Amino acid sequence: MSAPILRRLAELRAKHRDWIRAGERVAVVPTMGALHAGHLSLVEAAKLACDRVIVTIFVNPKQFNNPEDLANYPRTEHEDAIKLAPYGVDVIYVPDPDQIYPEGFASTVSVAGVADQMEGACRPGHFDGVATVVAKLFLQTGAQQAFFGEKDYQQLLVVRRMARDLDIPIEVIGCPTVRETSGLAMSSRNMRLSATGLETAGALHPILTELATRLAGGDIFVPLGKAAEAAILAAGFDEVEYLSLCCAEDLTALPRADRPARLFVAAWLEGVRLIDNIAV
Ligand code: PAF
Repeated sequence: MSAPILRRLAELRAKHRDWIRAGERVAVVPTMGALHAGHLSLVEAAKLACDRVIVTIFVNPKQFNNPEDLANYPRTEHEDAIKLAPYGVDVIYVPDPDQIYPEGFASTVSVAGVADQMEGACRPGHFDGVATVVAKLFLQTGAQQAFFGEKDYQQLLVVRRMARDLDIPIEVIGCPTVRETSGLAMSSRNMRLSATGLETAGALHPILTELATRLAGGDIFVPLGKAAEAAILAAGFDEVEYLSLCCAEDLTALPRADRPARLFVAAWLEGVRLIDNIAV
């Protein structure tokens, strides 16, 4: 049975009140819709951990630094509700825009440190938009646990920092990236690639994996990173925006993987910006 779609905060709060009165634990899975197996794995994790699950769908204009990207972002609410039906989600919260950004809205949540590099540097204002909307979704849903994919690892760290700094009583849980058989990380943006583009995109993960193996052996990042960038371009990508080796905890750049580290990449293909990251 498909879950009720709520569009007003007051309706969501009424449900939440009943659940809390009954002593139930509430999870939230924040999304921008265009749901794929990666999102559904978050819903599964949330269902296992909590009594009630809210999936939010809101294409957040404040986190798009590129108006074309916002205009092209897939909006598939009906299909999303159908995909969620087998999971026994309790509520799909699809807030009307004024429920998130009412007339006169003038506040921004800005996280420093983990938000500064990579996606933060390449997409000015992006993480302010993410932190602001996620803070609102945490407060509106009153959830005790929130589930995010490691595909957006930097976002996961930004959101965790924000919740800690603002004393929002919620546990932010990261779940493993779900991949196609080629290794391509599932993403709503993959829908915009042609069949050839999808094949080319499949080259990214094996290149990252090979690089990670070398780095785990103690090699210096810079020369290997340059070779991997060349391999990504040779595979058919149009541009590598960054390929970075960073500390897994605070995202500072590392010359070699001498502590728990991750490799991060952003690359362009057919006008689509793909990101991925893996543990070293
Ligand atoms: O990862 C996303 O889909 C979005 O950035 C999020 C967390 C739902 C905030 O709009």
